Amino acid sequence: MAQDAAIDTPVAHGGDGVRRRDFINIAAVSAAGVGGLAVVYPLVSQMSASADVLAESSTEIDIAAVQPGQAIKAVFRKQPVFIRNLTPAEVAEAGKVDVTSLRDPQTLQERTKEGHENLLITMGVCTHLGCVPQGAGAGEVKGEFGGYFCPCHGSHYDTAARIRKGPAPKNLLVPDYEITGTVVKIG
Ligand code: FES
Repeated sequence: MAQDAAIDTPVAHGGDGVRRRDFINIAAVSAAGVGGLAVVYPLVSQMSASADVLAESSTEIDIAAVQPGQAIKAVFRKQPVFIRNLTPAEVAEAGKVDVTSLRDPQTLQERTKEGHENLLITMGVCTHLGCVPQGAGAGEVKGEFGGYFCPCHGSHYDTAARIRKGPAPKNLLVPDYEITGTVVKIG
C-alpha cells in the first residue's frame, strides 16, 4: 500500500491544482499570443479595404441593348468581362453536352442565374495563362464549339464558356453578379 500512496500523492502541484510546469506553459503561450496580436493587427488593418474602394470594385452594366447572339465586353477590377446573350440554339447546344465528359463539369444552369439562362457572364480571361479569348466581339472567331477561342495556345470554349479543347484547365470564371431588370451588377 505504500506504493499506492506514493502514486496518489500530488507531486509538484500548486495549491490550486495546476502543476507548475503547466502554468509555465500557459504563461508562455499567453505572452506569445499577446505578441502575435500586436504584430498581426496592423497587417490586417492595412489589408482591409475602405468602403469607397469596395464600392469602386463593382461594375454595373445596362444590357438592354444586347440582343440574342450578341456579346459585349466590360471591365471589372481592371479585367475583361464578357456578357453574352445566348440564342435559344446556343442554350440548347450547351444543354446537349454530357457534363460528365467535361474537363470542368458544370451545366449552363450552374453558370447562369435561374430565369436568365441565356445571360452568360464570365471573366474574359483564359484559364490557361490569362490571355483574352476571342468570341465576344463582332466577327471574332468563336472556336470549334461556338463559344470563345483563345489564340495564345488554342483553347476552345463552348457556348457556356466551358473548356472543351486545348490546354486551359478550367471553364471561364463566372464572377459574382446580380441582375436587376436590365442591369447587371458584377462584384
Ligand atoms: Fe489561353 Fe494559353 S492563355 S490557351
